[in-house]
Amino acid sequence: MMLSDLDEVMEIEPVAFGSHHWSRQSFVNELNNPTGHYFVASDEGSGKLLGYSGFWLVGEEAHITTLAVHPEHRRQHIGERLLLHDIGQAEKVGANWMTLEVRVSNQMAQQLYYKYGFKNLGFRRNYYQDNSEDALVLWTENINAPEFKALVARRQAEVEARLGCQDDSAQRHMEV
Ligand SMILES: CC(C)(COP(=O)(O)OP(=O)(O)OC[C@H]1O[C@@H](n2cnc3c(N)ncnc32)[C@H](O)[C@@H]1OP(=O)(O)O)[C@@H](O)C(=O)NCCC(=O)NCCS
Repeated sequence: MMLSDLDEVMEIEPVAFGSHHWSRQSFVNELNNPTGHYFVASDEGSGKLLGYSGFWLVGEEAHITTLAVHPEHRRQHIGERLLLHDIGQAEKVGANWMTLEVRVSNQMAQQLYYKYGFKNLGFRRNYYQDNSEDALVLWTENINAPEFKALVARRQAEVEARLGCQDDSAQRHMEV
């Protein structure tokens, strides 16, 4: 993610997160945060920004701070590929675990994280200020363990196989 992506990021952000969304300045701060690692997914043909995600590297932990896909482009494995990219990058910068908070009501995101072996190891009560909703705190196993790497490789192969069967250029030519 670069400063020049922020206009398009800010088109998705409020739709994805409602009144609790990050401001443009929050993203500017994150892009200047040495612990921050942020990525965008875009359509290779049109260059349109389809989604974004990122994490902080804190010690051995990669803390996913955001993940969002444009509502018109959901259920095309873009969120999943952003998560796969986060996992790969987290590994590259030396993380051993990944963690994140997710709203207890956010079943669609939880389903995605559970596919990657995230487990609910705690709650943060009244975490979200807009409606005082609790957050689940999810953690992976050690991302460098052979079992986790095997799970990621299986899921990646499944995604590639599915996309290979679909006739949609926006899906096949997405770049992260
Ligand atoms: C969560 C989000 C990023 C998923 O992006 P996406 O590109 O639509 O998701 P994908 O197509 O990659 O889906 C991958 C998996 O996630 C789960 N999933 C995604 N959307 C789902 C839905 N509407 N219902 C149930 N499961 C869903 C499924 O397990 C899916 O795998 P499957 O297709 O094999 O069943 C997207 O819905 C979003 O931007 N939501 C708003 C922001 C948000 O909640 N972010 C997470 C904050 S913690």
